[in-house]
Amino acid sequence: MTDVTSPVDLTAFIAGLPKCELHVHLEGTLAPELKLSLANRNNIAIAETTVAEVEATYQFDSLTSFLAIYYPAMNVLLTDDDFFDLAFTYLTKAASQGVRHVEMFFDPQAHTGRGVPFQTVIRGYRRAVVTAQAQLGISAELILCFLRDLSAEFAMATLMESLPYKDWIIGVGLDSDERGNPPSKFAAVFARARTEGYMLTMHCDIDQVGSIEHIRQALEEIGVDRIDHGSNIVESPALVAEAKRRGIGFTCCPVSNSFVTHDMKSKEIVELLRGGLKVTVNSDDPAYFGGYMTENYAALAEHAGLTAAEVLALARNAFDAAWLTSRARSGFLDELDAYGASFGVS
Ligand code: HPA
Ligand code: ZN
Repeated sequence: MTDVTSPVDLTAFIAGLPKCELHVHLEGTLAPELKLSLANRNNIAIAETTVAEVEATYQFDSLTSFLAIYYPAMNVLLTDDDFFDLAFTYLTKAASQGVRHVEMFFDPQAHTGRGVPFQTVIRGYRRAVVTAQAQLGISAELILCFLRDLSAEFAMATLMESLPYKDWIIGVGLDSDERGNPPSKFAAVFARARTEGYMLTMHCDIDQVGSIEHIRQALEEIGVDRIDHGSNIVESPALVAEAKRRGIGFTCCPVSNSFVTHDMKSKEIVELLRGGLKVTVNSDDPAYFGGYMTENYAALAEHAGLTAAEVLALARNAFDAAWLTSRARSGFLDELDAYGASFGVS
């Protein structure tokens, strides 16, 4: 990593950087404007009538208080078109920020649990993926997330329901409230997902009770390919060494961290990056936390005093950790290298 010319305008460098996003919840991209327009379209009564009123409800200081706002907001999502509009709006924004490839979480149980068929959700999202590739040139994949505060049986039933759509889903993940819901609760579900050909990832949220034990279970008992968040691993040199040896990607979300813990965790993220872990930058729930990819890179770079070469390394890590074919990966990495070279950064 060397900067041969300096100074590099970091704001411009980040704005044009070819990006790869690996941690974004489609339901977390429900911006106030869209929530209001879907409520109108579907004749759903919601308490708020203006964007400012919806924004005023987006108040939280922990994962639990965030989730208490996040799930009820989804009631406005009912039809195939609603899921299409949600995903296509996000993909349009992502493409405008230079995102070239994205792997997006969706929470089917948050919809099937209130009577919306799995098929409605997946068809709407898939149509957005295909349309965005054709119209915006952005490459996108879907990751099915199980809700960890619900039963392992419901997760297994959801996995079975997904199988007819396997070609549209690249992997499975685990999200929602981590308290008392360790990875081991879903060992059988993830083992079956693996045999079905899905890639595996899991949230290990920031500063949870049992964070290190959950990271250990995800790595050693579940055998995940990536970890979402997971920066508490810095507390365990043995696990850091194992994750490094296995080339595990960590999908960090600086702006989200500062909402749910009052700390961006930039010190931990940068220590892991400089220690050679495959750390990446992502937006998590951008409509709620107010930062898409560019804002997340900018916040971390400013807070941690990153060099342009380190920003480039973060983007490279994401393309490395993405579930891409080797051909697609080399294409994106070539594009990234050429971009760095145009600023004299490698
Ligand atoms: N953690 C757990 N559950 C979630 C998150 C998260 O970051 N975002 C949306 N659901
Ligand atoms: Zn998340």
